[in-house]
Amino acid sequence: MCGIFGYAGTKKDAAEIVFSGIRSLEYRGYDSWGVGVVPASKSKFLISPLAVKKQVGKIGQASIADLPQGSIAFGHTRWATHGGATVENAHPHLDCTKRFAVIHNGIIENYEMVRDKILRKKHTFRSQTDTEVVVHLIEELAQTQSLRQATRQAFNLIEGLNAFIVLDSQTKQLIAVRNGSPLVVGFGRGENFLASDASALLPYTKRVHFMEDNEMVIITDSQTEFFETKSGKKLKPLIQTLNWSFAQADLGKFPHFMLKEIYEQPKILSNISQVSTVEIKKIAGLIETAFGTYLVGCGTAAYACLAGSYLFSKVSGFHLNWAIGSEFGYQLDFLTPKSLVLALSQSGETMDILESVKKAKAKGAKIVSLVNVFGSSLYRLSDYSLLMGAGSEKAVASTKDFTAKLAHLTLLAYALKGKIKDGQKVVAQAAKVAAGICQRPDLSRLKKLAKLLKHKDHMYIIGRGLSYPAALETALKIKEISYIHAEGLPAGELKHGPLALVEKGTPCLAFLPGDETYGANLAGSMEMKARGGYLIGISYKPHEIFDYYIPVADCREATIIPNVVVAQLLAYYLAIERGLDPDKPRHLAKSVTVK
Ligand code: G6P
Repeated sequence: MCGIFGYAGTKKDAAEIVFSGIRSLEYRGYDSWGVGVVPASKSKFLISPLAVKKQVGKIGQASIADLPQGSIAFGHTRWATHGGATVENAHPHLDCTKRFAVIHNGIIENYEMVRDKILRKKHTFRSQTDTEVVVHLIEELAQTQSLRQATRQAFNLIEGLNAFIVLDSQTKQLIAVRNGSPLVVGFGRGENFLASDASALLPYTKRVHFMEDNEMVIITDSQTEFFETKSGKKLKPLIQTLNWSFAQADLGKFPHFMLKEIYEQPKILSNISQVSTVEIKKIAGLIETAFGTYLVGCGTAAYACLAGSYLFSKVSGFHLNWAIGSEFGYQLDFLTPKSLVLALSQSGETMDILESVKKAKAKGAKIVSLVNVFGSSLYRLSDYSLLMGAGSEKAVASTKDFTAKLAHLTLLAYALKGKIKDGQKVVAQAAKVAAGICQRPDLSRLKKLAKLLKHKDHMYIIGRGLSYPAALETALKIKEISYIHAEGLPAGELKHGPLALVEKGTPCLAFLPGDETYGANLAGSMEMKARGGYLIGISYKPHEIFDYYIPVADCREATIIPNVVVAQLLAYYLAIERGLDPDKPRHLAKSVTVK
């Protein structure tokens, strides 16, 4: 969702720096963008103290060469919430005097009240956004007090989860505030930065401060000053040095990040099977002593939670509850200080997870997160965080973090049983099988299947046990990036409704690992085949009823991992066959920072 990048320094190409910053944040998902810069010198052609360029659509081949030179600038990629994707609604938004500009991520819940009661009579609104309220409010408040006080007061007046930056063309400073939506400050030499995602800062600096809720920062080329928004009290930043590599954010030899990230999985999984088990054992101990453990996640991470509930039951005989992040908040009345919440998230910034975790924390529950981004909001909110070690994930559709989570959950389940070494073996085996799938001839079979299915409108995917979350994840990947309607189902539910939709030629994918689900799953496959379904069997052995066969060797409970790799590759090649960009699916965002 919305990406933010700000620069204050001594270089003259601030707008270009910012432009490349928001380009690196494209993966978050957006529908329009904008850059604002304070021109270095007054030119007779410049009627405003601020130069702004805004456009609808992807950045693509766009250029900002028409913006003037300047040493202070900021930029924004917008994912529309209030008001459609238009140039007027794109950020930055300017006040009536054009002295201030604002970019914003989040939702201002009381924007109508602020606009109608405080601003309507004296200010002219040019957009349909909630954001524009902020810039006029600051303009209004700054008439009688310093900009610092005005920004603080404006921030305290608005409601909701937000982060915004004010660019003041007069004093040449950026003022940023945060409550809920992520913001990171980067410290350089003779230059300072702001970004919604630390990875965007990597080309410039690794010294960062992750802003906490209700923090404000004033940034110039030579200074950063931090304040508490409620009291105005000065704060000291917690400066950390990132040990991330810039290369992780590059495409390398791959045409898309999604493919690159799919191919990284065997290595990541193999690493997970070998790293120290101290953290895993510690978390397993927490699960063992907790009075109820709840797995919570959104999107793909929610399916990892569901898979976790099967893994813990099957491997260690433990019952773990699972819930979707946005729903957990409505069913946590029973949490006590003895409860444990295992929060699963790639980004660690998904608002629905953060909100429900905060509620659980308020009830005294212990929070352990399985998260991929060091320093993310969830990472910092948790009592204990286990990093997935999957490296930066750029494609909107999550892939390598999902299988990394499945691997960690497998280890946790085996650790609870006191047999972590067996868990490591199973994960190592899954890594090998996944590597095989990424190579010919398996890859050619998947590409051929994508060609066969590319014009279909609907697909049904069935599984039982651990293959049920695999079916759900397969359907999600296919929907997300190929825009083909796909439904994942527990095979047993077919006869309770979905079977009515199967007709001659309907693609039906069935996961048939060699576990206790094989027989019953085969029965479901036959039910679909009998109604004319085109049966694609994903299994350790072929069967005469398959119209198309994808071999996946068994690796006990971890077979879900290579099964999902098959699904990821199929979805990827379906998107390619349909001429779509798998990295940036329409209407979707990587980091879902609104409720
Ligand atoms: C978005 C992404 C999904 C991801 C979900 C949860 O919807 O497109 O791929 O699974 O958010 O994200 P998280 O970062 O919390 O795992």
